[in-house]
Amino acid sequence: MSPGAPLSRADLLALVKDARRAPSVHNIQPARWAAEASGLTLLADPARTLPIADPSGHDVRVSLGAAWEGMAIALSRLGFEVAAPEMGAGQGVAKLRFSRGGTADPLAEQVQRRATFRGVFRPTPAAALDALETRLEASEIVVVRNRNDIRDCAKLADDATDEFLLDPRYWRETWRWLRLSHAHPAWNRDGLNADALALSGIERALGGVLMAPAGFELMRRLGLARALVSERAKTESAGALLLFTAPLNEDSFQTGRAFYRRWLEVTAAGLGLCPMSVLADLPRANEAIRARFALPEARRLVNVLRVGAPPSAFPARLTPRLPAEELLLAAD
Ligand SMILES: Cc1cc2nc3c(=O)[nH]c(=O)nc-3n(C[C@H](O)[C@H](O)[C@H](O)COP(=O)(O)O)c2cc1C
Repeated sequence: MSPGAPLSRADLLALVKDARRAPSVHNIQPARWAAEASGLTLLADPARTLPIADPSGHDVRVSLGAAWEGMAIALSRLGFEVAAPEMGAGQGVAKLRFSRGGTADPLAEQVQRRATFRGVFRPTPAAALDALETRLEASEIVVVRNRNDIRDCAKLADDATDEFLLDPRYWRETWRWLRLSHAHPAWNRDGLNADALALSGIERALGGVLMAPAGFELMRRLGLARALVSERAKTESAGALLLFTAPLNEDSFQTGRAFYRRWLEVTAAGLGLCPMSVLADLPRANEAIRARFALPEARRLVNVLRVGAPPSAFPARLTPRLPAEELLLAAD
């Protein structure tokens, strides 16, 4: 790629390949890119939303913000400087303009090392958590390390999930993004596959029946669904919980940019992380956490992240993504 020359489609595909590592809710990957003479436009695929779990579109917009940040980091690696997003430009979510003269983002090398860790954490050394706290000092993240607090939040998260499950539409929607068998046509494309979910052998074997909507509804009526989806042991194994907050009126697109950067900081600290969106999404849980940890009135609770030491082999592989060719829209 020569300075000043417009980017070729091959250059753009390489950028999208890097940018697509950004996290998205349920791995729905809503971000699309269109190249123009003056830069790139970020668009949202209108078919990729979660109307039941995310009726306001908040988590999709957070995902779009993360995708933006992913592209900005990818461009920085190639020596480009990225201007602030121009929001609401035409049909797009935001316009991204860049020029020569940037330097690689200090978090760039974490991009290919980051993945959601959904297993049980190994004991997390206190020194690793101290180092993480130091790293996050400049952010407004609240780090919860007290074991009683972590235990109570683990129960609160399971209770919140139970409440969501009262609406059968919630699980039907989730199921559309689960890929429990390699035979699923989208196993290696999007959504949450059994590897990403860290399912055990027995969970994989039975999941196709018990987690399919009809089986799951039966389990729910029998009072057994909670055990199937409980994350309590995983949450209790965390070294800490991070309470991720944002200014009350911040556009969730900007929140998503910060969310991705903080996640890369956790990766840089050698720790793994899993968001627990239910704790922010269920108003009762959100209020309970706000009150318990005395979060400032001027900030909203965006998510609660459990963090800790993953196994040394993590991530054995990165979570699937759609081919870059599908994410980069053809030029008109
Ligand atoms: C806004 C947002 C909310 C998320 N909430 C959850 C969650 O509640 N539980 C979970 O296991 N993963 C959650 N995730 C993680 C995504 O499922 C994950 O980023 C996606 O599957 C891609 O996988 P990767 O992070 O390993 O690349 C969330 C991600 C985002 C961006």
